Amino acid sequence: MIYVAPSLLSADFAKLSEEIEDVRLAGADWLHYDVMDGHFVPNISMGIPVLASVRKCTDLFLDAHLMITEPIRYVKQFCDAGADLVNVHVEADTEENIIAALQQIHAKGKLCGITLKPKTSWQAAEPFMDLADLILVMTVEPGFGGQHFMPEQMDKLRKLRELIDRNGREIRLEVDGGVDAGTAPVCIEAGADTLVAGSAVFLAQDRKKAIDGIRGMN
Ligand code: DX5
Ligand code: ZN
Repeated sequence: MIYVAPSLLSADFAKLSEEIEDVRLAGADWLHYDVMDGHFVPNISMGIPVLASVRKCTDLFLDAHLMITEPIRYVKQFCDAGADLVNVHVEADTEENIIAALQQIHAKGKLCGITLKPKTSWQAAEPFMDLADLILVMTVEPGFGGQHFMPEQMDKLRKLRELIDRNGREIRLEVDGGVDAGTAPVCIEAGADTLVAGSAVFLAQDRKKAIDGIRGMN
């Protein structure tokens, strides 16, 4: 089943609880929560206290995407704040520390994910295949919403779909960046099962139509 995960980065932060309820009613499966530290990416977004407030106002599955350096420093706090899945970038620390971070997330009883930036090869996922519950392929350079989708990432997606199928564990394959009703079909065809969309959902006049379109239901 295809999941659509609206990214709160494009929501109106002054009325976050209304925005969350609105996309839930519009059919969101998950909520995607982007964390930026101004170091790993050239932007700063929201952090742990806001996540705790979001947790209080919704039962939706919270997919926290940590675009931060050395995420091991904070993964436990994101779990405690209410993330259901905590996702770390493979480029953000040594392989050993990323593995340790994933283990800490599992020890908290949460799901863990790894994320690959556009220039990172699909092979970078291999060391984490026995731990990760999700692999996220960035289809823009992380840091900002509203950028153009990078179709050249589809080969990576196909390779990772093969790797996941060979592995046999249940691992979701997610895409993030520039996803809308026009770009979603190629992602799904390449093997993605979880589609993050920020501007395409939150800036749409009709959010239900936008989510249905991304899911391929229009
Ligand atoms: C970008 C973030 C994305 C962003 C996507 O660094 O990770 O989740 O919100 O926004 P759109 O869908 O507008 O490209
Ligand atoms: Zn994201």
